[in-house]
Amino acid sequence: MKLLVTGGAGFIGSNLVHFLLRERPEWKIINLDALTYAGNLENLIAAEGNPNYTFVHEDITDQKAVQNTVEEHAPDAVMHLAAESHVDRSILDAGAFIKTNVLGTQILLDTVRNCKRDVRFLHVSTDEVYGTLGKTGYFTESTPLAPNSPYSASKAASDMLVRAAKETHGMDVVTTRCSNNYGPYQFPEKLIPLMIANSLEDKKLPVYGDGMQVRDWLYVEDHCRALLTVLEKGVSGEVYNIGGHNEWPNIEIVKLILKNLDKPESLIEYVADRLGHDRRYAIDASKIERELGWTPSHTFEQALPLTIQWYLENREWTDRIRSGAYQEYYETQYGNR
Ligand code: NAD
Ligand code: TYD
Repeated sequence: MKLLVTGGAGFIGSNLVHFLLRERPEWKIINLDALTYAGNLENLIAAEGNPNYTFVHEDITDQKAVQNTVEEHAPDAVMHLAAESHVDRSILDAGAFIKTNVLGTQILLDTVRNCKRDVRFLHVSTDEVYGTLGKTGYFTESTPLAPNSPYSASKAASDMLVRAAKETHGMDVVTTRCSNNYGPYQFPEKLIPLMIANSLEDKKLPVYGDGMQVRDWLYVEDHCRALLTVLEKGVSGEVYNIGGHNEWPNIEIVKLILKNLDKPESLIEYVADRLGHDRRYAIDASKIERELGWTPSHTFEQALPLTIQWYLENREWTDRIRSGAYQEYYETQYGNR
């Protein structure tokens, strides 16, 4: 099996690369990543030197580069994770989101189709395409798409292109929509790593609005196992929700982190709410559980402390992101960009 992973230098992508090298040691993994601000090769140090792992520094919006990569490596499957992923950035400027998430997905789909080989395309999407929930109910795969942020709108557009690739061109596609992930290597602009990093530096923890927005948190390794399950067993053309049955209001998470690090709640600072802030996400994952036999292996009670411990033991990893030093790592390993 030769597998092309896009976005493998990001949070979920790098966890996925490590997971696959461990779980499927006979597979060849090709990681194509543009190394935007969110891509960090320091996440992949443990994979360097593995003969089954190759890094390709290219951009999914560069058609020629994608074509060359597909021709050279002839993958049997693609797991497409490359994306602009931060809602707050999409509110400030949606341009890069449309370019990478929409145009990039179209270029990948077209290039894979034109290579005229049987290639399974797994599109990694998000529960945010469904919009927001009230106090009750869950997102199922048949919930209508109603994205509220430029980020989720661009992901919804990419989902529709993937759907069209199946309906129009008969491509072998599967789509996953997962809830919020947490774990090692998450860029410290997202809630959990940001709150850990600020706590450790005794900085204020900015909580948006009343802090009562609810997210359904899943440990990243459980997401990776679900992606592998869908790649191997998913039915072509189907969408699979992935979630942890693990809903928490943001403020409770922030308090748990402070408690774990023995820091005072006086560090919490309520700030202006995010524009268009989705109130609640909650996933009904019964389809993947029933049809493909996947369930999460980690509880929040185990995996949140493990995650906090990882950030404590790897403070240099966060420090190098905050100082910008992580972006020099490419040059030291691979020469000039
Ligand atoms: P991330 O922002 O940490 O990483 C994104 C990666 O994509 C980076 O390595 C970046 O360099 C790369 N990239 C960006 N633009 C690119 C381009 N034009 N060409 C090639 N590479 C490019 O994101 P993440 O949190 O790891 O999310 C990965 C995927 O999972 C995304 O598609 C996201 O929508 C989806 N997702 C994320 C979550 C979550 O909680 N983080 C939940 C559900 C789904
Ligand atoms: P985030 O990690 O950005 O993920 P998403 O917006 O994709 O769910 O945010 C998770 C929740 O935490 C979301 O409701 C926004 C909130 N949040 C804060 O309250 N303060 C912050 O500084 C950040 C980054 C997020």
